[in-house]
Amino acid sequence: MFNHIANMRIASSKTAAAILLSLISATPVYSKPAGTTALEEWFKSVVPQIFPNSTTNWQAAFENGLLDPKIKAALNGRDFTSLAEMRGYWSAVSAQIASRTEYYITEPEAFAFATDPEGRSGYVIGAAKTSLKTKQGDVYTDGGSSAFVSVAWNTELQKRVITEWKEVNTPPNYPNYPWS
Ligand SMILES: *[C@@H]1O[C@H](CO)[C@@H](O)[C@H](O)[C@H]1NC(C)=O
Repeated sequence: MFNHIANMRIASSKTAAAILLSLISATPVYSKPAGTTALEEWFKSVVPQIFPNSTTNWQAAFENGLLDPKIKAALNGRDFTSLAEMRGYWSAVSAQIASRTEYYITEPEAFAFATDPEGRSGYVIGAAKTSLKTKQGDVYTDGGSSAFVSVAWNTELQKRVITEWKEVNTPPNYPNYPWS
């Protein structure tokens, strides 16, 4: 009798395990619309154009329309009132990075919500793993940062333009990074 109950338990836990396995291996219930994937891929390609890890790589983004002249931007809760102010900050940060690091790399991920089938406009939550090597040779990995970004198609420029960029580093700039 006790054996019987024990066997039943094993049988039912086997069934539960089988159900769980079939759930995990089943085709995803949510398949992304093509526009969403396009917006995510675009955003990941944009990150290296904005990430100020040299004194020059990010400059074009402030001139070619990628960043809207009326952009709403914030970094770690600090609001910028104009694109020029944002650029000034980027300039200071890039100078600090260039003077203190040998390299500073980012591996971006994106989760987007497109508002049109082509993914020309929408919202993106971006996150990036970061790592760097100081001029002294110390290597830091597992830094992280994230941004909420609004994207709007500009019909005049015929391209996606970033109208909002709210970035949060958690905790700000990673505790062990050389400038924290
Ligand atoms: C800047 O970042 C990009 C993307 O992570 C990376 O490929 C490149 O090596 C970095 N350059 C420097 C100088 O850190």
